[in-house]
Amino acid sequence: MLNFNFYNPTNILFGKDQLRKLDSVVPKDARVLITYGGGSVKRFGTLDRVKEELAKSAREIFEFGGIEPNPQFATLMKAVEVVREKKVDFLLAVGGGSVMDGTKFIAVASNTREFIGKEEKILAFGFKGVPTTREENLPLGTVVTLPATGSEMNNGAVISNGEDKLTVFTPFNFPVFSILDPELTYTLPATQVANGIVDTFIHTVEQYITYPVDARFQDRTAEGILQTLIEIGKKTLDNPTDYDARANLVWCATMALNGLIGAGVPQDWATHMIGHEITGLYGIDHAKTLAVIQPANWKVRREQKREKLVQYAQRVWNIRDGSEDQKIDAAIMRTEEFFHSLGIKTRLSDHNLEERDIEAIVSSLTKHGMTKLSERGDVTPEVVTEILKAAL
Ligand code: NZQ
Ligand code: ZN
Repeated sequence: MLNFNFYNPTNILFGKDQLRKLDSVVPKDARVLITYGGGSVKRFGTLDRVKEELAKSAREIFEFGGIEPNPQFATLMKAVEVVREKKVDFLLAVGGGSVMDGTKFIAVASNTREFIGKEEKILAFGFKGVPTTREENLPLGTVVTLPATGSEMNNGAVISNGEDKLTVFTPFNFPVFSILDPELTYTLPATQVANGIVDTFIHTVEQYITYPVDARFQDRTAEGILQTLIEIGKKTLDNPTDYDARANLVWCATMALNGLIGAGVPQDWATHMIGHEITGLYGIDHAKTLAVIQPANWKVRREQKREKLVQYAQRVWNIRDGSEDQKIDAAIMRTEEFFHSLGIKTRLSDHNLEERDIEAIVSSLTKHGMTKLSERGDVTPEVVTEILKAAL
């Protein structure tokens, strides 16, 4: 097992009616900015419930709506202005990954002295982390309406600036608390539920299908998440109000990207980085890009990932017969069939992308400095081109 630090301070309030605890976890005298997306939380009543709970103590409440999927820097800067003008000291994100991520950006951009007036610079630090301080970074909480990204229990955010989709990390951007009531997700359209299942699945394999380091707990926990998703994926899609199925999805989504299964193991993330470029350039949903890239990535990097792909075939899909290569082929096929069963496509051509689009994706990655991706740092622009060709 590799060395690691594991730190995760987020207080999770999970289950039915946990929104009722909101008053007890937001500071009583806070000046709170509630952030939300395009209006689903208004339409389905979640925003009113949030405001009702917050009103139980003498807080000043402000609202900022309109954070779009793949949250844009320009939109978030308008929220930063509200924070400064109203002297907001607590942020409450009510929504999916885009709202949570956007709120994390607002948290770091509003008061970090070094970046006032040059907030765009925050987008340049990527995985190195933004230099901010605990005092400057505003605290935030979340009420999750879409199980997918794990943003509710991690310190990362993905922010778009035009076509550029960029990573923002700060050590202080872990939500103070996250409220996960599976019932708040019942109103999701099927395509977003499917996205959440696939995003969670890919977060897990990015940290699991690399090379073995004898990390048995991490491997078996990752396998547990994958098997749970396979068991409940179609069920929760077909029966959106089946509480237990949805609760299992919600908890898997959080646990897949809160640092637990990634501690002490090599991590890939090439599929995500390629996927982010495709979303930035063509606007295709995050999870839908991953479903296209991940199987192609395995086909191209089968040798580098051989041992873990065989383990995945045997332990997750229970494929026992045949040679190693037959097992790997069967596991990739079963994965694609699983995504198809959720209504998610697995080819670039399904999204009207062709061979001539490959160059734009590869040069965008290169522009963002992503020239040595994967657990081995061997996914160069040439390998990305191969992966994209395999995904056509
Ligand atoms: O904007 P509203 O009107 O709220 O509608 C949203 C949005 O259109 C809707 N929605 C959310 N909850 C709903 C609902 N509709 C009905 N009922 C509900 N309960 O769903 C749509 C998509 O929302 P979005 O937040 O964009 O989806 P998701 O949670 O999949 O987030 C995707 C974003 O997260 C980033 C992605 O790159 C993308 O920008 N990621 C963040 C990560 C992280 N912070 O760790 C990791 C991920 O790999 C990912 O990159
Ligand atoms: Zn993802």
